[in-house]
Amino acid sequence: MNILLLGSGGREHAMAWKIAQSPKLTKLYIAPGNPGTAQVGTNLAIAADNFPALKTAVLKNKIDIVVVGPEDPLVKGVVNFFADDAELKNIAVVGPDKVGAQLEGSKDFSKQFMFRHNIPTAGYLSVTSENIQDGISFLKSLQAPYVLKADGLAAGKGVLILNDLDETISELKSMLDGKFGAASKTVVIEEFLSGIECSVFVISDGKNYKILPEAKDYKRIGEGDKGLNTGGMGAVSPVPFANAEFMKKVEDRIIKPTVDGLNAEGIVYKGFIFFGLIKVNEEPYTIEYNARMGDPETEVVMLRIKSDFVELLEGVANGNLNEKTIEFDDRVVVTVMLVSGGYPEAFEKGKVISGFEDVEGSIVFHAGTTQKDNDIVTSGGRVMAVSSYGKTKEEALANSFSNAKKIQYEGKYFRGDIGFDL
Ligand code: AMP
Ligand code: GLY
Repeated sequence: MNILLLGSGGREHAMAWKIAQSPKLTKLYIAPGNPGTAQVGTNLAIAADNFPALKTAVLKNKIDIVVVGPEDPLVKGVVNFFADDAELKNIAVVGPDKVGAQLEGSKDFSKQFMFRHNIPTAGYLSVTSENIQDGISFLKSLQAPYVLKADGLAAGKGVLILNDLDETISELKSMLDGKFGAASKTVVIEEFLSGIECSVFVISDGKNYKILPEAKDYKRIGEGDKGLNTGGMGAVSPVPFANAEFMKKVEDRIIKPTVDGLNAEGIVYKGFIFFGLIKVNEEPYTIEYNARMGDPETEVVMLRIKSDFVELLEGVANGNLNEKTIEFDDRVVVTVMLVSGGYPEAFEKGKVISGFEDVEGSIVFHAGTTQKDNDIVTSGGRVMAVSSYGKTKEEALANSFSNAKKIQYEGKYFRGDIGFDL
């Protein structure tokens, strides 16, 4: 079987690493990929949202399954593009169509969906410039902190959590005035939920689903979870508080109603669903959906799947996921993200990376790297994820930590406390 994976980050390297282990694989291509994916497959110099160029590559390389890593091609309709093309329509694409991707692409859509299906989530009001006064009244009815979310995709920056009511009202106005462009023409105001978060992932063929290993990511730049939000500084799996009792509540109240709700609404969703959850007291609430796997969560999740991942992808393609089994590795996995100095604010690129050949006992996933002449150089804020197994999270972290220290580039920074709080 030939597989084409779309994307170029740490998530895609981790998926490519896992796919490449399958005896069912003939050839793996990644578009556009990175120097890490090039070690386990063949990179194609095609942007993940260049649909006509993807078509040519899919036909030329006799691709059977396309796996979509990031949200952008999904929201732009890559699944619809394949379904509507006579030559591509029999090729399976793992990912939701444009409507399903709205679970991530529009916070207003996802909140309405959750309310229609009684899925536990924070109370909210969606506001545009037409009903801003209702928004202000709603804010006044809430207690600090206040949560404002741009409805559309805003490169992970569209959520503001503020303590002062006047500041919140003024931010609401500036969001509606285009602070995040078209993405904040509608703003979702939410009740604040206080608790501990985790990420739960499901792969679905549209009817059946399998729950993948859960993970917790660490979003803040600083140790002790302080400072600015980032794309994610590390992750751990399993998450001790996501025990069998909690996960049963998650499945009964959140996962099953979501998959059934999609079905009931005629939304064909064949792909990954990422549930961003928060535990309030002992109860799970949904903070958000994403239409893809998490990053850096995938860099731990793939290590905890013992079974053949390609079997699951095939289950999505053939609509028989119910006949597949998924087995987890019992060990703890931690990933530590090495980032560029200055990230998540301005940072320099093009720093030569060395020492990753000396890594032992961890797996290095490339995230923001690129090949320049004979060197691998930094090309993004998040540069490499160092993932390790351990009998305990302490052991896994110690492995990642000692290997993270071996990798060198100017401005390297990472958090040494991933998993500490659990
Ligand atoms: P989102 O993009 O919706 O996941 O929001 C980004 C982050 O903001 C989440 O991971 C939470 O840490 C926080 N957040 C979002 N919504 C809420 C909420 N209603 N209550 C508390 N924290 C929230
Ligand atoms: N790690 C969070 C995300 O992928 O959105």
